[in-house]
Amino acid sequence: DAERAARKDDHVRLAREQRDEPRGRTDFDDLEFVHHALAGVDAERVELSVRLGEWHWPTPFYANGMTGGTEWTTRINRELAIAARETGMPMACGSVSVALDDAEAAGGFAVIREENPDGFVMANIGVGRDADDAVRAVELLRADALQLHLNAVQETAMPEGSRDFSGWERSVERIIAASPVPVIVKEVGFGLSRRTLRRLAELGAQFADVSGAGGTDFLRIENARHDSASRSAGGDFAMLSGFGQSALACLLDAPADGPRLLASGGVRNPFDVVKALAAGAGAVGVAGSFLQPLLAGGAEALVPLIERWIAQTTAILALLGAETPAALGSTDLLVRGRLAEYCRLRGIDLVALASRSGP
Ligand code: FNR
Repeated sequence: DAERAARKDDHVRLAREQRDEPRGRTDFDDLEFVHHALAGVDAERVELSVRLGEWHWPTPFYANGMTGGTEWTTRINRELAIAARETGMPMACGSVSVALDDAEAAGGFAVIREENPDGFVMANIGVGRDADDAVRAVELLRADALQLHLNAVQETAMPEGSRDFSGWERSVERIIAASPVPVIVKEVGFGLSRRTLRRLAELGAQFADVSGAGGTDFLRIENARHDSASRSAGGDFAMLSGFGQSALACLLDAPADGPRLLASGGVRNPFDVVKALAAGAGAVGVAGSFLQPLLAGGAEALVPLIERWIAQTTAILALLGAETPAALGSTDLLVRGRLAEYCRLRGIDLVALASRSGP
């Protein structure tokens, strides 16, 4: 358990270090809107809240699953929960597994409900856990939804990672069947393909967060956790760098008959949020971009950032003539560069996307 706890702190420390590095181009830069100079609306009329099935979320973006269970990460969860309460933003916690058999670690998750009694809170657990664990994770937070993460790429690169992914479909099915609240199946930064999304729908998933590549990079995080012995024993999988699909690639490639879509992975600012919404996400998850202000200044730093994101998202919707996030579905999207190449290889009609508002 001490090892699992150390891993939680490692993940936060290494994810933060990645934020300090200069950032390159991502697939978000390859998606552009056609500007229509007369299309704008009054920002006062823009309504940012989103409906996802029975849920009503005040903000179209949410804090994605990160952490909890150690002294440091409990403080992070507390500050995040306060910021979520103050802004109405939905939030998730990191994997609750570490807390299921450890009362002290459990406090590091329960703190979220204590600070944010009425907000929308998501518990989180990894595929392969017993269905009973999933139920306990939900109970611990009195969660409104359960995130179930699929992380085969991360496991491959992780020093203590699994090599057996064979039981995962069955596990997903069981956890969905047992969960007292809706399950959101998610990746951790490598994307969910068209085929995966179809399969998830067959397994009973109502929601999926594609969580694509281009943001927090768990290959590099896990790779940095190997000691030299484990590295020379073949633990180093840096060669897989770039593996997986971005959030936008997943959204554009998603099947019409899949689960309801959420998106995350590499969201840097409100314009990225708007792009993901326009590409088909019902709401947009943010982890790494909220972690840095959270660590630097807690809720006091995160609340004004979230308020700025709300105001800027509203302004961009007004510019694009969309009174709601759903109305972004008829914006004209120009897909360029690497993202366009992906779409062409996958048979996606880019010309149709560029003229969604009509000829
Ligand atoms: C994560 N992420 C994650 N996801 C999950 O389902 N369970 C978890 O326990 C964690 N832990 C975790 C720790 C830290 C420090 C970070 C930054 C992230 C993954 C996260 O939810 C998201 O899928 C990816 O980080 C991609 O989004 P960003 O960071 O690019 O916005």
